Amino acid sequence: MVLLEAESLSAGVSTGLMITATCIFLYTLQRYASDLTPPGPFALPIIGNMWAFPFTKPWLAFLDWRDTYGTRRYQAIDDLLEKRGNLYSDRPRYTVVGELMGLDRGMPIMQYDDPKRRLQRKLARTALSADAVRKYHGVQSRVAALMCWAFLSDPGRFRDHARLAAGRIIMAVTYGLPVSGAEHEYITHAEETMEMITQATMPGAFMADIIPILKHLPAWVPFLSPKRHARKGRAMIERLVETPFNHVVEEMAAGTALPSFTHDLLDDMSNAAEDDGEYKQAVLWSAGSLYGAGGETTYTTVLVFLICMAQHPQIQKKAQEELDSLIGSDRMPAITDRGKLPYIEAIIKEVMRWKVALPFAIPRRVDRDDVYKGYRIPAGSIVIPNVWAMGMDVPSKYPADEFVPERFLEDRPPVDPATYAFGFGRRVCPGKLLAENSVFLLITSILFCCNVSLPFTVDEYGEKRRAEMSVEFTTSLVSYPLPFECTIEPRSAGRSEVVKRASASVE
Ligand code: HEM
Repeated sequence: MVLLEAESLSAGVSTGLMITATCIFLYTLQRYASDLTPPGPFALPIIGNMWAFPFTKPWLAFLDWRDTYGTRRYQAIDDLLEKRGNLYSDRPRYTVVGELMGLDRGMPIMQYDDPKRRLQRKLARTALSADAVRKYHGVQSRVAALMCWAFLSDPGRFRDHARLAAGRIIMAVTYGLPVSGAEHEYITHAEETMEMITQATMPGAFMADIIPILKHLPAWVPFLSPKRHARKGRAMIERLVETPFNHVVEEMAAGTALPSFTHDLLDDMSNAAEDDGEYKQAVLWSAGSLYGAGGETTYTTVLVFLICMAQHPQIQKKAQEELDSLIGSDRMPAITDRGKLPYIEAIIKEVMRWKVALPFAIPRRVDRDDVYKGYRIPAGSIVIPNVWAMGMDVPSKYPADEFVPERFLEDRPPVDPATYAFGFGRRVCPGKLLAENSVFLLITSILFCCNVSLPFTVDEYGEKRRAEMSVEFTTSLVSYPLPFECTIEPRSAGRSEVVKRASASVE
């Protein structure tokens, strides 16, 4: 477990960071770490222990710190993020991306005690409840068919197809935009905006996040002033949330809007308190939050699956055999097949464990002073759960860094990654149920119609050979595989025909 503590010079408010599960990281601007705070790298004046923050694969370094500083694992996450959720559910203050770019109007980084956050969260939870997500099964199946047809007809661009599929599901659910329609423009903009946000939320991306007073520097001050980035980022974020929302409003006025999260909530003004304007803002920003948070995570999970299948042909074959024996070759997988495919479900768990999409979930900020196991945890400390380390901490006869779905079929399987990959306590991912269905349908549909294998290369004698595949992942909030090659081929003409028919019927 890691704890990081700091006091901001400008506001005189304590901020800091506590990293659970691996080690303790102290980040102190005004004072050195006291003996009472959890152990961690020593702090320097002004920058505190930010000097020690590893900018490449920090989850690995935090795992080492766990051993160096003797801090402990799951227990702290449960004790703090779950049981003391009233203290540990705030988010760090992101001066640039939050305050200056205005992203702090959306639920994922909004302050915990903000009543607007509570309303947004309530709307999202209702719209994505177990009952509510049933109505999206059809959309998810149609998108899976379109994605598979794109894999078969243009396999080289598999990455684009997977990204578009994840974006289409979220666009259809949030705004009711037709899954095969001209929504590409929104999705492309969402991707660019998410990429910008991902970079901007990395620790150390802006000095103004560490020393907030720097936000006042004029735009012409090089390196230190965040203003130019902030202006551009704000415009991108506002376009991301406003354009599709306004589209729904226009379609509702014309009577042509399809059912969706936004449509249903705007239609049901009984949710609104006295202030309609405030309610509309809550719908606008909660829809924007789902749209922003829901696409990239699902997409990354599908890419990790493709990597694992290319590297493990035997596992893919076993999964295909299981699927074939349940559904045959005349129809694509359906959501009703969930629960009947234990091996494939073990593969999905292993994908989510082996390379968790958000290795640190989304960091938290401690609301008030706290004491945990005799250690002082000052208000403002930032808590980062090392979710990646939880995935690696599996008691199993199989090495943790190897992709082995069988570990989840043992008598005493490891903890289900669904209990940590989606975060914790009061900020747990509200899109979990929708995401699980999407991942299931996209993955089983690929297994139904495609063989995924290592890429080919031509050797010095002009012969075609299988290439090695070594994939690196980005160090960012959502950790993506960097561009990689793989071969995607149809399993049979008959299966391709089934996919073609299913995708052709999508409007
Ligand atoms: C495989 C897919 C997904 C993964 C792995 C994932 C994971 C996560 C994680 C780790 C968090 C942080 C939770 C915490 O702070 O403890 C989160 C938050 C969030 N997720 Fe997801 N997510 C996925 C899909 C989705 C989808 C499909 C949606 C929307 C439909 C969504 C919407 C959100 C929102 C709005 C938050 C912020 C919640 C808050 O701060 O209260 N996610 N997600």
